[in-house]
Amino acid sequence: MKVLAILYQGGEAATNEPRLLGTVENKLGIQQWLESQGHEFIVSSSKEGPDSDFQKHIVDAEILITTPFHPGYLTRELMEKAKNLKICITAGVGSDHIDLDAAVDHNIQVLEVSGSNVVSVAEHVMMSVLLLVSEIARNAFDLEGKVVGTLGAGRIGYRVLQRLQPFNCKELLYYDYSPLPAAAAESVGARRVEDLKEFVSQCDLVTINCPLHEGTRGLINADLLKHFKKGAWIVNTARGAICDKDAIAAALASGQINGYAGDVWNVQPAPKDHIWRTMKNHLGGGNGMVPHYSGTTLDAQARYANGTKTILENYLQNRPQEPQNIIVGDGRYESKAYGQR
Ligand code: NAI
Repeated sequence: MKVLAILYQGGEAATNEPRLLGTVENKLGIQQWLESQGHEFIVSSSKEGPDSDFQKHIVDAEILITTPFHPGYLTRELMEKAKNLKICITAGVGSDHIDLDAAVDHNIQVLEVSGSNVVSVAEHVMMSVLLLVSEIARNAFDLEGKVVGTLGAGRIGYRVLQRLQPFNCKELLYYDYSPLPAAAAESVGARRVEDLKEFVSQCDLVTINCPLHEGTRGLINADLLKHFKKGAWIVNTARGAICDKDAIAAALASGQINGYAGDVWNVQPAPKDHIWRTMKNHLGGGNGMVPHYSGTTLDAQARYANGTKTILENYLQNRPQEPQNIIVGDGRYESKAYGQR
C-alpha cells in the first residue's frame, strides 16, 4: 500500500531533536513501523505545482497524511486524479486544506486527531491576548474589566474561556451555532450571543476558534468590521482565511481595530509581501502575527503523531475509527463543526 505524507522541513533542528515528530526528517515516527509491514511510505515537503512530490505521488497513493502547518492543498481537481485515494489523515486539527465536499463526492474519508493540540492553541491564544492588550505605555491596558468573546466555543474556544476566567473580565461571551451545555457555560460564566453583529459589537476582544468552511470563509470582512467596537482587538489562531486580509489591515490602520494577532495565514507559507507581515496600527504596533506553530508544541506533536498512528492502524486492520476523529466518513460529513447542514 502506498502512503504519502506531506510534512514540513525541520532541518538541523529536527535531526537534533527527535521529538520534532511532525517533520520530514522524523516522519511522525512511523516509517519503520509502516515499512516493516511492506508498505511504501513517501514523505516530502514539496507540495506546490505539477512537479511537486505531492502532485506526483497523489495519483496512486491510497493514504494521504497532511499537516495544517504546511498544508498540502487537496483540491477537487487533484482528487479526481487520485484514483486510489481512500483516506486523508490530518496530523493535527483542521482539515480545511482538503476539499471536504469533494471528499464526500469521491467517497474519500477525512480524519483528524481531534483534541491533539487544543491546549497548545488555547495557551497561545492567551499569550496573544495579553500581548495585544498590554502593549506599551499609551497603548497598554488591563485585561480585567474587558468584554472578551470567542467565535466558536468548541474544544479550543472553551479552553480559552476557562483560561480567561481568573482574569476577572467584565464578561465572557460566545457565538456558536452549537450552544454549550448549560453546566459548561455556567462553569466558565459565559453568555451566548446569537447574532454575530451584536456579538462583535459587545466585545473588546474577539478570539476566533471555529473551523474554516464555506460559512466562515471571509466572515470577518469590511462590513462586519464596522460593527466591532472601535479599537477592539482580534486574535485568530483558527484559520487565516476566516478574516479578509486586506480588510483587517485597513481596519488596523484606521484605528477601527487596535490589534490583530495569530499564527494562521490565508495561504501557507505566506508570501513575502503578505500584508499581515507588516501591517500596523496608527501607533506603529498592534501586530502579533507569527508563523503557524501554536498547535505544534512538542507535547502536541507527540499526541498528533500517536493519533495518526492509531488512525492508520484502525484503517489497516479494518477496525472502526474513533467517532470524534471522523470529519468525512463514508460519503458524508460526520462532524457538525464544519458548517450547518
Ligand atoms: P471543535 O470542532 O472542537 O470546535 C469548533 C467549534 O466551532 C464548534 O463548536 C462549532 O460549532 C463552531 N463553529 C463552526 N462554525 C461556526 C460558525 N460559523 N460560527 C460560530 N461557531 C462555529 O474544534 P477545535 O478543536 O476547537 O478547533 C477549532 C479550529 O481551530 C480548527 O478547526 C482549526 O482550524 C483551528 N486550529 C488551529 C491550530 C493552530 O495551530 N493554530 C491547531 C488546532 C486547531
